[in-house]
Amino acid sequence: MSNLKLSIFIAILLVAVPTAFSYDYLKLALQWPPTVSDQTQFYPSPMDFTIHGVWPENFLGPWPLPPCPLQNPYVPITDPNLLSRLQVSWPNLLGSNDWFWGHEWNKHGGCSEAVYNQTQYFALGLELKDRYNVQNMLAPMMRLSGRLCSDT
Ligand SMILES: *[C@@H]1O[C@H](CO)[C@@H](O)[C@H](O)[C@H]1NC(C)=O
Repeated sequence: MSNLKLSIFIAILLVAVPTAFSYDYLKLALQWPPTVSDQTQFYPSPMDFTIHGVWPENFLGPWPLPPCPLQNPYVPITDPNLLSRLQVSWPNLLGSNDWFWGHEWNKHGGCSEAVYNQTQYFALGLELKDRYNVQNMLAPMMRLSGRLCSDT
């Protein structure tokens, strides 16, 4: 029995030992296009949050994590299904999509590359944006503030 307890204790320790590029959580960084786009490069602005990036971070910082060495630097995305979803939900509001995606992957992706390869990283961003629909979360507050304004 005590052997079993000991082995459970050791297993927990192994999981908790930090590796060089461990992170505590993934931050889904979103942007509100009308406040980012200069309106000439990306017009009309989408009236929905778009993805800026998925940033692996630690509670105690630094924020962001320093760029972590990548095993696989960015390769332009060619999968048509992934591409069409990224163009809608993860566009560069100020220039080239490929530059933006490469920047996000090369700067942040390496910190979680052991878990999410490049394809999985971008699919994860899309999945998180759908799962946590910030626009819907804010909608009740927007309606409330609209009502308060019109009441005065
Ligand atoms: C990422 O991992 C998945 C699942 O193992 C694999 O099917 C896919 O080919 C990998 N993609 C890249 C770009 O390495």
